[in-house]
Amino acid sequence: MSNAFVARSLDEIRFWSRIMKEHSLFLKLGFRCEDTQLINEANQFYSTFEGIERQSHAFTVGTDPEQIRRFNVEVQNAATHIWAFKRKILGLVLSCKMPGANNFPLLIDHTSREANYFRNRLNELNSGQLEPLPDAIIDENVFFLRIMADHAKFIGHLLDPSERQLVEQARNFSNDFDQLLFQARDLESMRPQSQTLPMLNQFLDQNRVSVKSLRDFKKTAKDLIESCRIKSIIHPLLADHVFREAERFLAIIDMFEQSLSSVKPR
Ligand SMILES: [Fe+2]
Ligand SMILES: [Fe+2]
Repeated sequence: MSNAFVARSLDEIRFWSRIMKEHSLFLKLGFRCEDTQLINEANQFYSTFEGIERQSHAFTVGTDPEQIRRFNVEVQNAATHIWAFKRKILGLVLSCKMPGANNFPLLIDHTSREANYFRNRLNELNSGQLEPLPDAIIDENVFFLRIMADHAKFIGHLLDPSERQLVEQARNFSNDFDQLLFQARDLESMRPQSQTLPMLNQFLDQNRVSVKSLRDFKKTAKDLIESCRIKSIIHPLLADHVFREAERFLAIIDMFEQSLSSVKPR
């Protein structure tokens, strides 16, 4: 049990601390030259999460669970701080105090939701209160489907408008994922009655198909951007970042399918 706790904690921290580190970079790139204080803060978050990432790779599954528990608290604090930083920037942008800055409000909100997810997960791990499987399936999908819908919107808006076909494809993905998100919320409001084995299986199957095709689209976009074949203002690291988040969602769907297959039908 404690081995599983250590493995799960390290897996979450290795994935999300890199993500938080990259958010600091993306936010910094969207600030104006005169926003020196914010740029400094972003740089500090970058090194904080770089340090956490390095530390997480130094630990192993054999590390003392008590040490990991303390590490989780420390990382959860850092995630709370970057969450507050993101909400502060969102406030500045929404009150028009940063005219000319280049971070979309939805992107700032999006990255703050990811920070919030990260700190909640660490809290759940430390308190030993992981959700029951049927609830986790719905909640994780509601969270990640919205993340995927946002990504499609960001890609569509950061591609050059002259890349008409790709912009159109991104718009279609955005619509698909908005639909899937509404379906997930419907299933959410119909629970617990909606949490039958066949319904949950179908839910995962349907989501998996769309996430796979979005993941492939992101892979193509990433390759095109890295080889400078298309016009956009998408940082190659951002293209890779959203690709990795889709891979993460797919891995979570697979994990749920595996756990469901070991549940006896009622
Ligand atoms: Fe992200
Ligand atoms: Fe994201």
